[in-house]
Amino acid sequence: MWSMSCKNLGVFSLVLMLSFAIGCSESAKQEVVTNLVDSDYYKEKHRPQFHFTPEANWMNDPNGMFYYQGKYHLFYQYYPDSTVWGPMHWGHAQSKDMVHWEHLPIGLYPDSIGCIFSGGAVVDNKNTSKLGTANNPPIIATFTHHDFVGEKAKSNDFQKQSIAYSIDGGSEWIKYDGNPVIPNTEKIKDFRDPKVVWHEDTKSWILVLAAYDRVKFYASPNLIDWKFISDFAIEGDNRLWECPDLFPMKVEGTDETKWVLIVSIQKEAPNGGTGTSYFVGDFDGKAFKCDIKDQKWLDWGTDNYAFVTWNNIPKADGRILGLGWMSNWQYAQIVPTEKWRSAMTLPRELNLLNLNNEYQIHSVPVQELKALRGEPTRGKAVTISDEKLLEGAYDVSQSEFEFTVDLKKTTAESFGMKFHNDVGEYFQISFSKEKGKMFVDRTHSTPGNFSAEFVAGIHSAPINFDKESMTVRLYMDAASSEIFIDNGAVSFTSILFPSKKFDSVSLIAQGGEMQSSSYTVYPLDDIWRQ
Ligand code: FRU
Repeated sequence: MWSMSCKNLGVFSLVLMLSFAIGCSESAKQEVVTNLVDSDYYKEKHRPQFHFTPEANWMNDPNGMFYYQGKYHLFYQYYPDSTVWGPMHWGHAQSKDMVHWEHLPIGLYPDSIGCIFSGGAVVDNKNTSKLGTANNPPIIATFTHHDFVGEKAKSNDFQKQSIAYSIDGGSEWIKYDGNPVIPNTEKIKDFRDPKVVWHEDTKSWILVLAAYDRVKFYASPNLIDWKFISDFAIEGDNRLWECPDLFPMKVEGTDETKWVLIVSIQKEAPNGGTGTSYFVGDFDGKAFKCDIKDQKWLDWGTDNYAFVTWNNIPKADGRILGLGWMSNWQYAQIVPTEKWRSAMTLPRELNLLNLNNEYQIHSVPVQELKALRGEPTRGKAVTISDEKLLEGAYDVSQSEFEFTVDLKKTTAESFGMKFHNDVGEYFQISFSKEKGKMFVDRTHSTPGNFSAEFVAGIHSAPINFDKESMTVRLYMDAASSEIFIDNGAVSFTSILFPSKKFDSVSLIAQGGEMQSSSYTVYPLDDIWRQ
């Protein structure tokens, strides 16, 4: 994001520096707002009801996610003084189930080295850092210190990697005295977003960070002393890489372990702007090896960026869990929300499959979300040759929809689902067997034309229709749609801002019939106090 903001926001960086100097010191600690009238709490226009959003002001990437003593911690890029990006802090929230969240005071504040860009956190269970004790392991956050003053002076080494630790389970954070732990000796302008994983075979910590058009790997015995070991790039690729993540995954149904490298890419995502990609390969503690032609997209929609995973999920659970920032740098700062800006995606479980000798990640919303389901509306087999309203007692803007299409009996040229409101706005997903694609049309979902890029074109993803049936699951939450095809083989996340909430939804077919063998709608509960 940083290079883009320099290009596009010019004078803005001066304002940032001033507010950095005036408003963001440790002493000016922001209190969590607790005295709002409960019935109004989280009820503003466009406010998602079952997604994580900050109470107020600007949020981008998820950061420092770890699980410890029954709580999932979520930190996030946060600017507490405005609804647009500014000198970054780490906002903080925790949850027992990744669904209901409790806001906590800001975790990390800017300091004399710089403001706090993205990074990760690990529970140092063996106290390798010696910053805690064996009985009370420290939690170590790795992050980028970004120095605006150095940047303005064109020093080129204004991004450096630092650590902070917590010995009370993640509430209070102490910056390490010897920061930065990875200085920027090569003077790489884009040098950031360190994320750490334990590598059992070499008994070392591995840190991966983005260095402009590549990632760099470092190893350490203690999370403090880091040694560069290798880098990984695609030859000839000069896109900006950000927010990498590295972790091992079991291939479903086998004993094989592969390593997954997630990289968020700042431009040319499948439907424009920013998106999250991944590679599947091997990592021996020194280098990551994979066929770089195999770069894949974790999500085909426009609005899932900087997706990263939780550290320290118990072995007995064994899932790979994560979430992304539900926006796109093309328009994130100007979306029409007034009090806060941005939401996270639903928390998701990743699964690695080997299908016809091709490794693929499928992602589904975590099962914990089922706790939000209300009384379902169910429909049996239905043939649609035009449009069928899905009637029932549920809020269309706050529900989960699932329908199964009998592909063999479906003859329609185009079939899918359409959300409407009574002022003529709509959001539509449609499938074309002939084109082998799914289309997502939000061009009439959001009035105001606040961004040409937001409404530019109909988005799409490739779909394999060579099967008996296809199941579509969609979560609609005020200002977002998350679609999961066939248990997450394709996921597609889009944000949208209708002037009035969608209040009806229909299955649609054109140029033939769609045969749906069943459909279910679950109203979903709010996650915030009411
Ligand atoms: C990604 C990003 C990161 C950076 C952060 C700054 O969205 O640009 O690379 O650390 O945002 O807020």
